[in-house]
Amino acid sequence: MPLVKFTNENKEIEVPAGAWLREEAVRAGINLNCGVNGYGADVNKYVNCMGKGMCGTCRVRITSGIENTNSLTKREWLRFKTPGLPPDPIPCLAYVGNEETMRLACMTQINGDIEVESGPEVNLFGDNFFS
Ligand code: FES
Repeated sequence: MPLVKFTNENKEIEVPAGAWLREEAVRAGINLNCGVNGYGADVNKYVNCMGKGMCGTCRVRITSGIENTNSLTKREWLRFKTPGLPPDPIPCLAYVGNEETMRLACMTQINGDIEVESGPEVNLFGDNFFS
C-alpha cells in the first residue's frame, strides 16, 4: 500500500493504490483546502467545491514521488493556466515556479509513495511571477 507523508502536519498514512489524495486526507483529519499564505484555511475547509476540481483551494505540492501520481488533469490545467477563471486567480499565481510539483489534491490519484506539502506559499511579488 502506498505511503503518503504530509510534511507540514508531520503525519503519514497508508492508502490503497489508486486512492484520491483529498479524500484520504479528509479521512485522516487533514485539511488540504488551505487559504493563501496562512490566511483563510478555516473558511476554505468548509467553502470549497468538495473535490470537483473547480475551486482550486486544495492546492498541494508533491515534494517527492510526483511520478507516483496520475498526469495533470484538464481541470487542473484550467485552474492553473487560466488567470481569469472564477472564483479566484490565486491557483495560477501559486502554479508559477511550481509547474512540476503543483497539483489539486482532489484530482491527484496516488499510485505509490509520495510526500505532500499542504498550503504551499504563494509568491505574489517574487521574481518567478514577473520573469
Ligand atoms: S476541492 Fe475544489 S479544487 Fe479541489
